[in-house]
Amino acid sequence: MRILKSLAELRNWRQQQSEVALVPTMGNLHDGHLQLVKTALERCDNVVVSIFVNPMQFGANEDLDSYPRTLEADCRALDALGVAAVFTPQISDVYPRGLDKQTRIEVPGISDILCGASRPGHFTGVATIVCKLFNMVQPQLAVFGEKDYQQLQVIRLMTQDLSLPVEVLGTPTQRETSGLAMSSRNGYLSAEQKQQASALYRTLEKTKAELRSNTDFKALEKAAINDLTEAGFAPDYFSIRNAKDLQEATPEDSQWVLLAAAFMGETRLIDNLRVTNNNAK
Ligand code: PAF
Repeated sequence: MRILKSLAELRNWRQQQSEVALVPTMGNLHDGHLQLVKTALERCDNVVVSIFVNPMQFGANEDLDSYPRTLEADCRALDALGVAAVFTPQISDVYPRGLDKQTRIEVPGISDILCGASRPGHFTGVATIVCKLFNMVQPQLAVFGEKDYQQLQVIRLMTQDLSLPVEVLGTPTQRETSGLAMSSRNGYLSAEQKQQASALYRTLEKTKAELRSNTDFKALEKAAINDLTEAGFAPDYFSIRNAKDLQEATPEDSQWVLLAAAFMGETRLIDNLRVTNNNAK
């Protein structure tokens, strides 16, 4: 496995390849990431994983400095899976004029709601780095987790709006046996908090079941917020949305998505579930 530490090394390597699939990550890889890599490998022999903790997507009070960096262990795990290359660019390669002067990608209509309302600028940071990674790596395919559902929709729209020649593939959320969605931020939780945090998935499942016979979305959201609070969470939001554009749900939508963000102690967790509306025409 090649470890490409600069844009120059990447470009040199890329010239000698034909098809490439990309799995963009911020490192600290868990089984959820490894599943993205396995999915990419099913579609393409030549997989490159990028590892870059992107400062542009972190808010001023967020965990950029403490975000876990585990490059050696990450590379061992990727090598064992048969990844062709790991791209770990330097900050000067990614933002050569500094963060403040960097050209940014805004995806309107979807970036300022839900997680974007609580984390201003976050999705601009995500869209900008993913667009840059697509330009640097020039993959035919890029694989992302559905756990970050809003992020996945932002990336899909950005790719479509900018006519980027990349297929964006979402893959199902990997869960602990408790139902807790796998996330690098789970490492911040104590054993007890981890157990409590599985209530996030249970609440999504309960709401999904109720949606079969009840489309009073506001009442369902309120009940879910109460359940999360009782389980020890400080909820940020629980929202039922149209699965495609993430606008407010209507009874006519063919697919909904239930999206939740909640704090367990200091740790902000997110999760989601998609629901098919069996009554849609
Ligand atoms: O999901 C992530 O790990 C990041 O948001 C991504 C897509 C690698 C962009 O930095």
